Amino acid sequence: MPTATFHFPRGFLWGTATSSHQVEGNNKNNNFWAWEQQPERIIDGHKSGLACDWWGGRWREDFERIVEGGQNAHRLSIEWSRVQPAPDRWDEDALDHYRQMLQRLHQLDITPMVTLHHFCDPVWVSELGGWENEAIVKLFEAYVGKTVEALSEYTNLWITINEPNVLVVFAYLFGLFPPGKKDIRSVGKVYTNLVKAHSAAYHIIHRLQPTARVGYAINYRSAKPAVPWNPLDRFIVGLTSTAFNNAFPRAINDGVLRLFLTRKRIPEAKGTQDFLGLNYYTREYVAFSLLQPKNLFMHQYFKPQAELSTTGFIANEPEGMFEALKWGLQFKIPIIVTENGIEDGDDRIRPSYLIQHLHQIWRGINFNWPIKGYFHWTLVDNFEWERGWTQRFGLWELDIETQARRKRPSADLFSAICTGNKISSDMVQQYAPQIYDRMFPGP
Ligand code: BGC
Repeated sequence: MPTATFHFPRGFLWGTATSSHQVEGNNKNNNFWAWEQQPERIIDGHKSGLACDWWGGRWREDFERIVEGGQNAHRLSIEWSRVQPAPDRWDEDALDHYRQMLQRLHQLDITPMVTLHHFCDPVWVSELGGWENEAIVKLFEAYVGKTVEALSEYTNLWITINEPNVLVVFAYLFGLFPPGKKDIRSVGKVYTNLVKAHSAAYHIIHRLQPTARVGYAINYRSAKPAVPWNPLDRFIVGLTSTAFNNAFPRAINDGVLRLFLTRKRIPEAKGTQDFLGLNYYTREYVAFSLLQPKNLFMHQYFKPQAELSTTGFIANEPEGMFEALKWGLQFKIPIIVTENGIEDGDDRIRPSYLIQHLHQIWRGINFNWPIKGYFHWTLVDNFEWERGWTQRFGLWELDIETQARRKRPSADLFSAICTGNKISSDMVQQYAPQIYDRMFPGP
């Protein structure tokens, strides 16, 4: 049997990623909590509730799991509604809470990456019109300034906004996140404000902390035309990739927001990224369909023989990771994979998903692509937005009734990878023997 080891570069960041609303619990002052209280917004009426009870202190034990798991980095997020519960009030205790968390990571020798906005807004910001109101740019800048002043002693790696593209589409086009809009006319306005808010945050962070490394995290969705030679399928794929994958990053790259047939100059955005944060989960196929006017004339589906996650939300398509990284090269800056993972309560395909996606990252590194780290989504099962608790992305399983955690086999696999800074054929043999021949083909 052929054997091999895939080594990663020295200093590669290995971590898991979390977000405040999904793990803290009792985030009662943000728009998502309010949304959860409305009927039929969240699947089966699920609520974030205590989540992983990080605000109650369980982050301490979960940070031990990070260490035990051989990780050297962790991505977490700050909750705007906690730091600024009202327009004229900063909560120093909340900032102190985050300071303690970062201090602990520091003691544990874990590099923190801090996200400043992960989908949620304070209720008072939503009442002002949220991302549709240009006032949010200044408000966000003030919150970022306050937070960075308070926390810069413990981190210099910042993500301003998580997945601005998902926020636009889920909250303003598909109505799945608050404010639940389904209005294509909001898209341009919201994108513009997100680009401006990111740039303002970038500039203020650099002013306050010259050593900072600042980026955002884009959700790259690989889309393939259902019939490769069909011009309509190709057209619709081009249109959606432009609006979803390219619009935000290109605006940050050159200061021009291109959406459908419009172009808007936002010169202050140009060059406001020190690295590219890349979230990649899956690939889909897209056909132009007159039967789908509500879905922008797209029929989207996974490859028929694809391996699917528990609820069918994600297909295991590792080549899409390679494609995403290749796409990211155009910005000529370091790339960090800020999220990747699969919902799989039984840990049925997570081990092979993990190995295959990391293998694609390793391939990229071997072409000398500047890939600096990998954050798995996620450490412990968390609250999955409109999908509630039906999806389990954790390396650790969470019992939401008792808060007990139970390790899944993938946690040991990821630990072996992080500790060894490598994927070995032994690991594949132990955790995902069914893909061995594909990973290490014989003569
Ligand atoms: C988001 C996470 C989410 C994950 C899995 C990403 O798009 O950033 O908050 O939990 O997908 O659904």
